[in-house]
Amino acid sequence: MKILVTGGGGYIGVVLCERLLAAGHDVRVLDRLYWGSAPLAHIRERIELVHEDVRAIDPGVLDGIDGVAHLAGLSNDPTAEYNPDANWQMNADATAHLAAACKERGISRFTFGSSASIYDGLGEGQFDETAEVKPRGAYSLSKFAAEQSLRSLAGGGFAPVILRQGTVYGYSPRMRLDLVVNTFIKDALLRGTLFLHGGGWMWRPLVDVTDVAEAHVRCLEADPGVVGGQTFNVVHGNFQIRQLAMLVQGSLSLHDKAVRLEDAPMPKINRNYRCANANLTEALGFTPHVTVLESIERMLKMLPLADPATLAHPRYYNIDWMTLLEDIVATHAGERSIWSVDVSAASVT
Ligand SMILES: NC(=O)c1ccc[n+]([C@@H]2O[C@H](COP(=O)([O-])OP(=O)(O)OC[C@H]3O[C@@H](n4cnc5c(N)ncnc54)[C@H](O)[C@@H]3O)[C@@H](O)[C@H]2O)c1
Repeated sequence: MKILVTGGGGYIGVVLCERLLAAGHDVRVLDRLYWGSAPLAHIRERIELVHEDVRAIDPGVLDGIDGVAHLAGLSNDPTAEYNPDANWQMNADATAHLAAACKERGISRFTFGSSASIYDGLGEGQFDETAEVKPRGAYSLSKFAAEQSLRSLAGGGFAPVILRQGTVYGYSPRMRLDLVVNTFIKDALLRGTLFLHGGGWMWRPLVDVTDVAEAHVRCLEADPGVVGGQTFNVVHGNFQIRQLAMLVQGSLSLHDKAVRLEDAPMPKINRNYRCANANLTEALGFTPHVTVLESIERMLKMLPLADPATLAHPRYYNIDWMTLLEDIVATHAGERSIWSVDVSAASVT
């Protein structure tokens, strides 16, 4: 099949492209390339790359496409809160428009990278896809609105699958170090200290980046009649932040690196939620299996550890990178903004 991956230049997107190619699919990436095209360099000759904004796509980008994995957009709370309008356009509106365009063209296979943060605020308990969610915050509200648009478009040959991805960990050629396990590895290497905000008792559902990619591939390859219109949590397990810190600390001790754990004040945004993953296993026979410990070891192999100071570069932290880009664009391009659709980010590599 030929698969369009929106956001294919991102943390999950690059790993998904690798996995699709390995499975014998053709890949077209549509990405505004906020992080440049370098993370795609190793597969650049094997993919088509369309440098466009998902809010203003040329319908021709869907020519010859059999399925879409839709990942483009702002991908965490801080960036969404930073510019809620752009966040809504990208995460909610653009998803609805892209899905409608796919339906019109008879493209039935469609996966959407939604977020398990939609379950935040429900209180104690482990929630499955039937839970009545009450998302709060710009990011999860926009993801939920996108989900609702997809559900309303499902049917008549259109078979979207909503994947509520847990917080992702693991190595990607487009590395993010603003995700809890990855952040702990960076802090351990750079500072030798991990801070447990509010004691680190909060729960979070987590999953490795290769398992997320696999879930998208399985859903794209599945019979649309079976998976179409369904919502699946994509989670390996639920962990307390404190537990994750201990896993990172223990792993690094095996590499002769001492790491201290320290209590710190409760963070401003305090997310705490757990969710179940049984439905994905039941429907697709696939359970995310890469453990936090396995993933930590892989990251320790792949990250530039000879010079850990490089891990502090803003490109690894979405909010730092976006604010830096905006400063640069404002300085050099006057009125133009990185959030609008008419500014090419091509030069930002
Ligand atoms: N990483 C996680 O822990 C996680 C968890 C749950 C859900 N998600 C969702 O999965 C998706 C991918 O996340 P990620 O971690 O790879 O994020 P990422 O920020 O690394 O990647 C997002 C990609 O989308 C591109 N993009 C952003 N806005 C765009 C636009 N307007 N037009 C075209 N391209 C645009 C960026 O250039 C980037 O390559 C996102 O939708 C995110 O909300 C991520």
